[in-house]
Amino acid sequence: MIVGLESRDDAGVYRLREDLAIIQTVDYFTPIVDDPYDFGQIAAANALSDVYAMGGRPVTAMNVVCFPRASMDISILRDILRGGIAKLSEAGVSLIGGHSVDDPELKYGLCVTGIVHPERVITKRGAREGDVLVLTKPLGSGIISTAMKAGLAGKEIIARLTQQMATLNKKASELMMDVPVHACTDITGFGLLGHACEMIEGTDVGMVIHISSVPLLSNIEEYARMGLIPGGTYRNREFRSHMIEAQVSDEMMLILFDAQTSGGLFISLPAKDGEGLVRRMHEEGIEDAAIVGQVVAEPKGKIRIT
Ligand code: CO
Ligand code: CO
Ligand code: CO
Repeated sequence: MIVGLESRDDAGVYRLREDLAIIQTVDYFTPIVDDPYDFGQIAAANALSDVYAMGGRPVTAMNVVCFPRASMDISILRDILRGGIAKLSEAGVSLIGGHSVDDPELKYGLCVTGIVHPERVITKRGAREGDVLVLTKPLGSGIISTAMKAGLAGKEIIARLTQQMATLNKKASELMMDVPVHACTDITGFGLLGHACEMIEGTDVGMVIHISSVPLLSNIEEYARMGLIPGGTYRNREFRSHMIEAQVSDEMMLILFDAQTSGGLFISLPAKDGEGLVRRMHEEGIEDAAIVGQVVAEPKGKIRIT
């Protein structure tokens, strides 16, 4: 076993041979958008993401389905599964099975297996002083989803949010593996700062995040000011606030802690490779990728927001 439960990383990694390890992960959740096909795509992109964050290549997947047979039309489930399969085929991943249960609350996701060279596994830990930090997708999916549920998000914003969450981290991961990265994770439920804290907790480095460099979905500041904040986002801030040094508005802090679905990769790599990686990402259509901060010696074990 290379990465197991105690390291609380994105996925488990098990060595099969000298030159081959498998990565295993499972993720499923309740619908976050109204359209079943879109939900299927997002759930699949999200489930695959942990393999990409570890530098692996997903190869097989199995559906995990909870479906209220009595109260919901089966065509909805068919559309969800079609969305999932479309993403898997875009990723070059084979669907090899699955399991469904009758459940009053609809849930969908996948169990994913990937492969990686045992010496090329990228974990959350390993950020070094002097590294730069690259984020590959804009923040705000939690807040915008909340605005959407309240009926306050327009069609265009919903379309942009959906497209962003359904985007695979495949290309970002492949480009990352072309440079000598030190650490990586994907931004999901704990928000940017929550996942950043996991990378430095108990280590002898800290981080500086430049707020003006962090890519954001449009209108998010306005929604945050209106109090359209998911519960998980408040919990994230409460749990980690002792690790944050900042003089920023309440809204901005909540945006940085916003619980994300299928967020981007957050990569720590040598400063000399940072600009080049971001340029390659822009060339490949990952247009929001940006250097958002640095790994520093002080404040140790903390994140300073500037
Ligand atoms: Co993850
Ligand atoms: Co996960
Ligand atoms: Co079964």
